[in-house]
Amino acid sequence: MPLNADDQKRAAAARALEFVEPGTRLGLGTGSTAKHFVDLLGERVRAGLDVIAVPTSEATRAQAEACGIRLTTLDETPELDLTVDGADEIAPDMSLIKGGGGALLREKIVAAASARMLVIADESKCVAMLGAFPLPIEVTPFGFLATLRAVDKAIAGIQRSGPLNLRMGKDGHAFVTDGGHWIIDAKLGRIDDPKALAHALSGIPGVMDHGLFVGMAAMAIIGAPAGVRIIERT
Ligand code: 5RP
Repeated sequence: MPLNADDQKRAAAARALEFVEPGTRLGLGTGSTAKHFVDLLGERVRAGLDVIAVPTSEATRAQAEACGIRLTTLDETPELDLTVDGADEIAPDMSLIKGGGGALLREKIVAAASARMLVIADESKCVAMLGAFPLPIEVTPFGFLATLRAVDKAIAGIQRSGPLNLRMGKDGHAFVTDGGHWIIDAKLGRIDDPKALAHALSGIPGVMDHGLFVGMAAMAIIGAPAGVRIIERT
């Protein structure tokens, strides 16, 4: 029977465990696929595997703690061996959109501190071109409207801009990240030059980070209806 989307995520997470060795210093991603990975890692830890991990969100921290995974911080352990995280979109060159779960800033900091970033995802995340998924841009609440204008101008300097929406939380107020910031979701439809856009957005005061991960992921494990396949960055 073909695997459904959640089974695909779990199958990818299970395969990623094969890259975890005793003593690995891990970055733990955020989202429903990363949740499967943390769950399966917890089983291995309870069976005796010794690893240490940095979570990329408070949600992942709580889950990892409940699973009995030994946690550290980047202050105590500034260099990690491997980060395993999900993605919202994966392009053929392995550039990514991340941040659908709102953890992009910590996810990027942790991935950058890791020797290797491994992406786990279901088949629906593989796209020919990034941009159908709204690009999350994490901003400071201070000066929000000025930052919003600057973001629009920066995008328009590179390609066609689109609706820029402040992400809202379930409580009807602006969604607040673990770092106390807000998120603009940029509905661009397509991103013609992810590297140029990443560079332009990074230069805006008030933008803490954005969900474009370019040149960071080395490998993606994709759960597909018929099983798991691995893509490596060439
Ligand atoms: C959270 C993320 C997630 O990795 C991304 O949203 C994918 O989530 P999921 O595995 O639930 O599809 O970037 O900030």
